[in-house]
Amino acid sequence: MCGIVGYVGSAGVGDKSVDVLLGGLKRLEYRGYDSAGVAVIGADGTLDSRKRAGKLQVLVDDLEADPLRDGQTGIGHTRWATHGGPTDENAHPHLADDGKLALIHNGIIENFSELKAELLAEGVEFLSETDSEVAAHLVARAYRSTGDLAEALRTVVARLDGAFTLLVVHADQPGVVVGARRNSPLVIGLGDGENFLGSDVAAFVAHTRRAMSIGQDQLVTIRPDSVEVVGFDGLPVETSEFEIDWDASAADKGGWSSFMAKEISEEPEAVAKTLLGRVSGGGVHLSELDGVADRLATVDRVIVIACGTAAYAGILGKYAIEQWARVPVEVELAHEFRYRDPVLDEKTLVVSISQSGETMDTLMAVKYAREQGAQVLSICNTQGSTIPRESDAVIYTHAGPEVAVASTKAFLAQGTALFLLGLHLAGLRGTLSTDEIADQVADLQAIPEKIERVLESSERIRTLAGWMADTRSVLFLGRHVGYPIALEGALKLKELAYIHAEGFAAGELKHGPIALIEPGQIVFVIVPSPRDPRSLHPKVVSNIQEIRARGARVIAIAEEGDAAVLPFADEVLHIPLAAPLFESLLAVVPLHVFGMELAAAKGLDVDQPRNLAKSVTVE
Ligand code: F6R
Repeated sequence: MCGIVGYVGSAGVGDKSVDVLLGGLKRLEYRGYDSAGVAVIGADGTLDSRKRAGKLQVLVDDLEADPLRDGQTGIGHTRWATHGGPTDENAHPHLADDGKLALIHNGIIENFSELKAELLAEGVEFLSETDSEVAAHLVARAYRSTGDLAEALRTVVARLDGAFTLLVVHADQPGVVVGARRNSPLVIGLGDGENFLGSDVAAFVAHTRRAMSIGQDQLVTIRPDSVEVVGFDGLPVETSEFEIDWDASAADKGGWSSFMAKEISEEPEAVAKTLLGRVSGGGVHLSELDGVADRLATVDRVIVIACGTAAYAGILGKYAIEQWARVPVEVELAHEFRYRDPVLDEKTLVVSISQSGETMDTLMAVKYAREQGAQVLSICNTQGSTIPRESDAVIYTHAGPEVAVASTKAFLAQGTALFLLGLHLAGLRGTLSTDEIADQVADLQAIPEKIERVLESSERIRTLAGWMADTRSVLFLGRHVGYPIALEGALKLKELAYIHAEGFAAGELKHGPIALIEPGQIVFVIVPSPRDPRSLHPKVVSNIQEIRARGARVIAIAEEGDAAVLPFADEVLHIPLAAPLFESLLAVVPLHVFGMELAAAKGLDVDQPRNLAKSVTVE
């Protein structure tokens, strides 16, 4: 959702704030937005701003035609509309104090109506329908009485309910950007004679790889040569610096037609890098969990909380942890979890999963779980993000930056991290022998190369997708770990190709969904291995026969050499042999490719599907 960039440079770095801000906004585009704007304090000490509805390019073209008076201080914003439609007026920055103050906001100010009423009564004129403009006028009013921008912002945040990141500049204060955050992302970039603020590190990674986290309910003031962080109580707080472990080129398309195509091609690497340094000598070593090892050994229940694709990865985790570590696991959508009064105690391990580390629903569920005494372990792909900071321990997935809005490679990295966690817990609890763990580790280490082989069939999937460009409904069936893969396949099709798609547990077919089958209905079936010890294979082959008998067109994803499905499927996409749980990491790959190719065949933007945001930072 909204992307935020702040910049201050010294005279030596030249007047480049507009370039820095637009570059940062470009890299934050993936978060999803519908309008964009910048405000800069020019070398002549005046504040100049521009904002436009639509793609960032609309703003860029406008600024090329009519440049701003550039300087070394500025803020930039991409907006994802919540209060008020995506118009020029509602875009940020919002101005106050006779155009001398500019403010940008990510989040929702829940009590904005009463604050607005107060300001209206004082005669303040509003130019937009947003909640954010209220904050601009409040800060301006406080600044007029204090003359101190950080202090003004501090008094205002005390009155705001909801979630927010706010950045403010004032023409009287060139060389200063102040920011504040509550339950909304903000990271500091540390440069040489210049400093940055961003919704995530992508905003400034082209300029520096040194970054600093800022906690909840904290304010930051950046100047060219200093960074100061205080709590909402005004007291200084400790900060910690970290090195960003990917560079700007990792967030570029690198010659691929879309970020999604690039990210799917990186699926083998996402698994390999998540394993790197964590498996050796047949064992699993999660040193990041050392601090919570005692508590992990005694947990009597695991609850996985996540949203969307991350929640489907969570179901893989459930199957693995229960099978190997013999602990009951529930998987719950984070937004349902915290509103249903769940029973938690210190023996409950809550595992949150989030690619972005900023999903508001997941963040709030994490906070809630900790308040209730549970310990929280997070699986996250983004350094410097909020959820890891709010957790007792974190396993970082190393999928690299995921820019396409729909998640692909992160899903595989999340599944891998959960498998590692399952084996780690099994080792701690003694439910698997060292040899059993070593066997699983060896199978898991072979997965990246097998994914490479699955990707070799991408061309064939593209042809299939081309034939199906007019399809209006697709069903996905799977059993055991094939079930979350069916859900994931359906979600990708909905969000990328805007096609009605449903994923079902194959066993559920006869309990209702089979009524949807009519001649020509396309059904993807994820077929378990014939070697599966639970004998699920014949059951799923029967399901295929049942739907074929009713005229469905079946595309089976089956293990190489599985002859039993051939007579009944219209198409078979083969995946290499793998251990039953790990088959999931192979079967999902053709579905990711299919979703992308079907969207491309329909001429849709696969990286930025309509209505969606990469990072859902509001509830
Ligand atoms: C689907 C997708 C979403 C995210 C969900 C959670 O392709 O991308 O369903 O998986 O919004 O996001 P994170 O993992 O950032 O918490």
